[in-house]
Amino acid sequence: MAFNLLKGKRGIITGALDENSIAWKVALRAHEEGATFVLTNAPIAMRLGEINKLAEATNSKIIPADATSVEDLTKLYTESMEHLGGKIDFVLHSIGMSVNIRKNIPYTELNYEFYQKGIDVSALTLHKMLAVAHKLDALNEHASVVALSYIGAQRVYPFYTDMADIKAMLESIARTFGYHYGKSKKVRINTVSQSPTKTTAGGGIKGFTDFYDFAQMQSPLGNASAEDCANFCVALFSDLTKMVTMQNLYHDGGYSTTGVSSEQLEALQK
Ligand SMILES: NC(=O)c1ccc[n+]([C@@H]2O[C@H](COP(=O)([O-])OP(=O)(O)OC[C@H]3O[C@@H](n4cnc5c(N)ncnc54)[C@H](O)[C@@H]3O)[C@@H](O)[C@H]2O)c1
Repeated sequence: MAFNLLKGKRGIITGALDENSIAWKVALRAHEEGATFVLTNAPIAMRLGEINKLAEATNSKIIPADATSVEDLTKLYTESMEHLGGKIDFVLHSIGMSVNIRKNIPYTELNYEFYQKGIDVSALTLHKMLAVAHKLDALNEHASVVALSYIGAQRVYPFYTDMADIKAMLESIARTFGYHYGKSKKVRINTVSQSPTKTTAGGGIKGFTDFYDFAQMQSPLGNASAEDCANFCVALFSDLTKMVTMQNLYHDGGYSTTGVSSEQLEALQK
């Protein structure tokens, strides 16, 4: 069901790699809600070619950009404003990658080059996207920026290794930039802490399926799907959440405030 929540709004959506990506679902929902937007991803991800299908389905332009490059981001905002015909109302940061996780390197033995790469790609890209927008004055008043996070920023999940630290940094950037951008332009910035979700990034984590089932068992409402996450992001892009900023918002079916569920206890007794 669509409510025209984003009618007339212009956006930039990062991170749609394939149809499992959270960003893919956000793009579909934003389109249904009347938004126009540009899709962007790292040039290397373009080679997969899947994003073309999404661009067609949502009638949107693709502007490749490596989000670690200030030059690429400057081009992204400039061309997006030209193409969409004005300043931007919403931005989705849906970018995450850890080489240490991909290579199964334990937290106590992290490779520091990979660690820095992870920080650059998964956290500093949010700062860069905000700083470039600020410099170009590319965002409208009350624009909404959402970045995706995970509860590993607050609690220890051994398999999440360096991404735990990186997500903590991402959430901190959202808060701190949220203060400055809120003061100067009333732009709001939030992170959404999402349930484990079956995507390329999620599936790259060792033991992901077991952990997905564990979280499912712990959450009174079950794990939040990528589609549910898209609905929440659309709500955050809309004017209905105009005064929400500098928050890390749990979108996890109640997982984060449940100590233990009866199903988990029963499983232990077996
Ligand atoms: N899947 C989960 O369980 C889960 C849970 C909570 C939060 N998240 C977060 O959601 C976000 C999206 O991940 P996803 O699960 O949809 O997986 P995904 O693999 O579909 O998306 C990650 C995206 O990051 C892009 N990317 C990587 N390096 C880039 C760069 N240099 N410049 C631009 N883009 C780059 C990839 O091309 C890809 O599109 C990530 O921040 C992830 O940490 C995922």
